[in-house]
Amino acid sequence: MEVIVQPTPPDAARMAATLVAKAIRRKPNLVLGLATGSTPLMLYGELIRMHREEGLDFHHVTTFNLDEYLGLPPNHPASYRRFMQENFFSHINLSPQRTFVPDGMTQDIHRHCHEYEDLIVSCGGIDIQILGIGSDGHIGFNEPTSSLASRTREKALTEQTRRDNARFFATLDEVPHNCLTMGIGTILASHQCLLLAFGPKKADVVAAAVEGPVTSMVPASALQFHADAKFIVDEPAAAKLKLRAYYDYVLAHNPG
Ligand code: PGA
Repeated sequence: MEVIVQPTPPDAARMAATLVAKAIRRKPNLVLGLATGSTPLMLYGELIRMHREEGLDFHHVTTFNLDEYLGLPPNHPASYRRFMQENFFSHINLSPQRTFVPDGMTQDIHRHCHEYEDLIVSCGGIDIQILGIGSDGHIGFNEPTSSLASRTREKALTEQTRRDNARFFATLDEVPHNCLTMGIGTILASHQCLLLAFGPKKADVVAAAVEGPVTSMVPASALQFHADAKFIVDEPAAAKLKLRAYYDYVLAHNPG
């Protein structure tokens, strides 16, 4: 696990975008795992800027989103398909047929989840998985006590997650109770994970995920088992890390 502390969210987003852009230039048909929520927005903004100003080419890139609300059609204002369309896909030259988001309206959940997993494998696996972290430690919508070996499936959202996400809906009652999400095992199978976390509300959970025990009570702590996981966080989100001086030392002595 590598912890990179940046002064501000824009600095962190620029660093993450630089890593993604380098990977796309090295492998134009990169398979990119994507996240929703407020945290990755600046990263998407920076990638859009790189596409417009620096010719970053997404034409051969394939994307897989982590999760989707069950029962929301793709054009619902709070669906993750619509979020991705508005905040990222419509601004770059991705091929629409290579952008995958779980289908919240599927009539056969079990089969759809299996097919999603198979599709990821048939594309060669996810090269870089972008992640946020929920205030309860979730990655994707893998809520506390999710199996650390889980694969794409239906999950019930915690009340805390529903409240955290109510800002995207007209009322709390409208927030779905269930979702489809890649599992923790799916996320761990990606070649690299880039987790972003900003702000003081994430400080406790970042410290628990990085420095606490691996436990399904903090699903993001499973990333301690990943061979190439980077946490890119701003100063407030890093505030509770005990080994902060060490992380800065590692970064300062990293030739890359
Ligand atoms: P946020 O959500 O980026 O809106 O804080 C993160 C998450 O729930 O994974």
